[in-house]
Amino acid sequence: MQPEIDTYCLSHSTPEPELLQALSRETHLRMVQPRMLSCWQQGLLLQQLAKLAKSKTMLEIGTFTGYSALCLAAALPPNGVLHTYDVDDEALEVAQAFFAQSPQAAQVRVHHQSALEGAPLLKETFDFVFIDGDKREYPDYYRMALNLTPSGGLIVADNVLWSGKILAAPLAGDRHTRALQEFNEMVRSDSAVEKIMLPLRDGLTLIRKK
Ligand SMILES: C[S@@+](CC[C@H](N)C(=O)[O-])C[C@H]1O[C@@H](n2cnc3c(N)ncnc32)[C@H](O)[C@@H]1O
Repeated sequence: MQPEIDTYCLSHSTPEPELLQALSRETHLRMVQPRMLSCWQQGLLLQQLAKLAKSKTMLEIGTFTGYSALCLAAALPPNGVLHTYDVDDEALEVAQAFFAQSPQAAQVRVHHQSALEGAPLLKETFDFVFIDGDKREYPDYYRMALNLTPSGGLIVADNVLWSGKILAAPLAGDRHTRALQEFNEMVRSDSAVEKIMLPLRDGLTLIRKK
């Protein structure tokens, strides 16, 4: 049933803009791991959340080719800004080309740097943080995001189910699963936040700082 349900849900949602369809095609042609790209269902959810939260200053950890960044940027008010970080030259080249074609081009600040190094130096707070970088760094991203988010701010983390691997003890040397389990436990036991883990695609946790 799931593929049919997904198709039905998508056909009853806002359609994917042409620019994002083109970005998805380009990513599949040029990138070695196109599956890192967000899907439209997830991008649209991020966009709706950011609009509902009236987020003005956003931080994205993990730009890749810019799909989720474009979804988030489309939710910004005219004076809003999205800072997005990545360490991959080739992915950022694709992202920059597509940001340039977006109506929000001037509102997207691309940083070719680890978010862990760069974001604290901006000396800003972010009312929306999207965590989607290296899974082994999720616990560090979370500590940083909590420091950079005001009360009421929203933190969203992708891949929290890690294709279901999260349910079992990780194999020796599997640092990705281990770090995601640590991150999930940090969020679960953190009484300073309200949270919901959703089984959307590879798992998405929505975290609101009290
Ligand atoms: C899953 S992809 C991001 C996908 C993108 N958010 C989207 O939805 O289309 C993860 C990206 O995180 C980047 N990354 C890894 N470590 C990072 C770090 N410390 N800071 C920022 N980005 C990082 C990787 O280079 C990769 O492009």
